[in-house]
Amino acid sequence: MSRSDRLTLVAGGAGFIGSHLCRMLLDAGERVVCLDNMQTSRASNLAALLSHENFEFVQADITAPLPSAIVSRTRQYHRIYNLACAASPPRYQADPEHTMLTNVVGTNYLLRLAEASGARFLLTSTSEVYGDPEMHPQREDYRGNVSCTGPRACYDEGKRAAETLTFDFARNGRADVRVARIFNTYGPNMDPDDGRVVSNVICQALSGNPITIYGDGSQTRSFCYVTDTAEALRRLMEVDEIGLEPVNIGNPRELTVRELVDLVVKMMGRPAEVRNAPLPVDDPRRRKPNIDRAKALLGWEPATELEAGIQATMNWFANELGEDVVVTATVDDLDRHRRKRPATSDIVREAATG
Ligand SMILES: NC(=O)c1ccc[n+]([C@@H]2O[C@H](COP(=O)([O-])OP(=O)(O)OC[C@H]3O[C@@H](n4cnc5c(N)ncnc54)[C@H](O)[C@@H]3O)[C@@H](O)[C@H]2O)c1
Repeated sequence: MSRSDRLTLVAGGAGFIGSHLCRMLLDAGERVVCLDNMQTSRASNLAALLSHENFEFVQADITAPLPSAIVSRTRQYHRIYNLACAASPPRYQADPEHTMLTNVVGTNYLLRLAEASGARFLLTSTSEVYGDPEMHPQREDYRGNVSCTGPRACYDEGKRAAETLTFDFARNGRADVRVARIFNTYGPNMDPDDGRVVSNVICQALSGNPITIYGDGSQTRSFCYVTDTAEALRRLMEVDEIGLEPVNIGNPRELTVRELVDLVVKMMGRPAEVRNAPLPVDDPRRRKPNIDRAKALLGWEPATELEAGIQATMNWFANELGEDVVVTATVDDLDRHRRKRPATSDIVREAATG
């Protein structure tokens, strides 16, 4: 097959991370087929890609047998990325059966396609496979502390099963596979309504609504800017020697949810009310990836400082929401802020008093 006939299939390519990955692949000269059911994608993510001559979209749900528009070109696929799965908790909990089937049945269909085509296959798994972790930071050999009966299990256990299936295909010589365990990713193209912490905090701050902190805000997360995540996925797909091992993809800079709110309020430069709400069931208390494996195997680590990434994300959301807000804090201002790190209450008071 000539290089110009080769296709890269991106399932879930119209979603948040998928849209950045498709753009990156197109920029690298790949011909991309995006397969998506549009469950959690944004039409504008797709619209921005459709104008590219090497981009093609097929609307289908991977829980059903793949449509002929996909299987008729089986021999042309040389890379298959599987990003198809709602990632925001309210979205994946809205139809838990579909979430579980997407991960298990859908991954199975895509793995069978990889087997038939000889394509290399990459599964986007998640830090949620570690559950509420007892190991900190989380290394890939940590087996996790996951509830198999709680409301998050459709996603957490679905991803664990998808990993099992993926590694079994590899172990049995049926497909050449890669598994990325992605930690919280943020950036432009997120859905403002999807209920994830970064989009929630930014959208509430921009629209002047009270900012919700679940629990006391002392739970930690590590946030990776989306282009860094997409670049890591691309590198993981292209690395030749990997073995049967998953790879953590994330930013090891850990901060509390309260510190994230502090940062966003500081960047807004205006008062913000903070409201506490009950912590969701099975919400993990700590999240921080150990990325030694990604560094060693992929020569990758996040390149985007949190302050710069949040600034870019806030400006993007302000534009999307039509809010007449300019995020004026510069990255230099924020570096000073980072050294100082006042508590939310101080920021709110400071902002409120001008
Ligand atoms: N964003 C994060 O912080 C994060 C963290 C860990 C893992 N991940 C994983 O990365 C992948 C992409 O996440 P995202 O943040 O871009 O989520 P997203 O919800 O924005 O994108 C998922 C895409 O998959 C599509 N999809 C869902 N179910 C499908 C199905 N059955 N058939 C076809 N398409 C389907 C959706 O319409 C959407 O376009 C997901 O697999 C997610 O589990 C994301």
